[in-house]
Amino acid sequence: MSPTDGRPWQELPQVRLTGKGRRWRKTGHPWVYRDDLAGPVGVPPGELVAVLGPTGDFLGQAFYSAASRIALRFVTRGEEVVDREFWAARLEEALAYRERVAPGAEARRLIYGEADGFPGLVVDAYGPHLVVQSLHPGPERLLPLFLELVTSRLAPASITLRHDAEVRQLEGLPQEVRTVQGELPERLEIREGGLTFLVDVRRGQKTGLFLDQRENRLAARSYGRGEVLDAFAYQGGFGLHLAAAATRVTLVDSSAAALEVARENALINGLENIIAIRENVFHFLRKAVKEGRRYDTIILDPPAFAKSRQDRPGALKGYLEINRQALELLSPGGCLITCSCSYNLREEEFLDLLRQAAQTAGRELRMVERRGAARDHPALLSLPESLYLKCFILQAPP
Ligand SMILES: C[S@@+](CC[C@H](N)C(=O)[O-])C[C@H]1O[C@@H](n2cnc3c(N)ncnc32)[C@H](O)[C@@H]1O
Repeated sequence: MSPTDGRPWQELPQVRLTGKGRRWRKTGHPWVYRDDLAGPVGVPPGELVAVLGPTGDFLGQAFYSAASRIALRFVTRGEEVVDREFWAARLEEALAYRERVAPGAEARRLIYGEADGFPGLVVDAYGPHLVVQSLHPGPERLLPLFLELVTSRLAPASITLRHDAEVRQLEGLPQEVRTVQGELPERLEIREGGLTFLVDVRRGQKTGLFLDQRENRLAARSYGRGEVLDAFAYQGGFGLHLAAAATRVTLVDSSAAALEVARENALINGLENIIAIRENVFHFLRKAVKEGRRYDTIILDPPAFAKSRQDRPGALKGYLEINRQALELLSPGGCLITCSCSYNLREEEFLDLLRQAAQTAGRELRMVERRGAARDHPALLSLPESLYLKCFILQAPP
């Protein structure tokens, strides 16, 4: 910890906002953009600062970043002293919440940034192994303290830093993947909904699994029947859950490494009705429509097509195309489980786009489930960026 931690806010470095910045703060959004700072800040990145309005009124305490467009990330709205006990109490709250909403889930998120009061910090558990992402100079500076707290509370078998996320570059933080504590096997075996999944937390996408989709994968089990298509399948997360009730499950993904693990996952679970195809989903769907194929359940779980606002036009076209093609392939009475993890595509816009896809494909659809991220990934209402995942389960009439 630095000498300024554990002090009353009056003794912290102070950062003033402009009038516009103060009005923005009133929305409750936990970030402040650099343009909204009243002047230059002579504070090292990651430092805790007291945030003041233009007239010197106290607005809260925040982590400062010198590199990215987001200059401040609020840690408190109030005057409480931010010391070891403060963080220990926040950790306890985060863990107690997971025990309520995801008891017994072997792979789950334990700390999810702002929503848990740890701006820029993510901690995932894969059984007794922890994976940590610090995405901001604030948690980066306090990492030794955070690791000590989780270690004394959870006694993990290992802790691995997945510090290869792109946002770290924007914050001027180095890229690395490193096990800093304990022994991490090459691959872990994780149980989810009665199935076993292999996880490579060093090289897998995200921190190994797409944990935000855990509850959606489990919900999808009730819709497995006949021919199932899992498009953008990764390691078979959705498809394998549906396999027991299906005649056949076709997994399509562009990553050979992900499909290799999917095949092994099928094998260790004794599932013999899985085929894994390495192909661009856009090509696969076009070809399947041309060949007049039919599927009884289709899952579309693409990566975020709209990573920024500039990407939106292309992204909308992409979402529209894959959903329209999927609807052409869907058999009567079949289910489409369609997801978007683009923050830049709002829920209502995604629904509109699905209406349009249904119209073009000449299909009537009914909404069966309207879902979001798993409950161990809570989102802050004041941080729309955290409300990114949409998952709709739609059914075609028989
Ligand atoms: C959000 S992940 C899917 C997660 C998976 N449904 C799960 O629950 O584990 C998206 C996947 O799409 C794959 N992908 C990205 N672009 C693709 C494309 N054009 N065609 C096929 N697969 C693609 C990535 O390799 C990644 O595995």
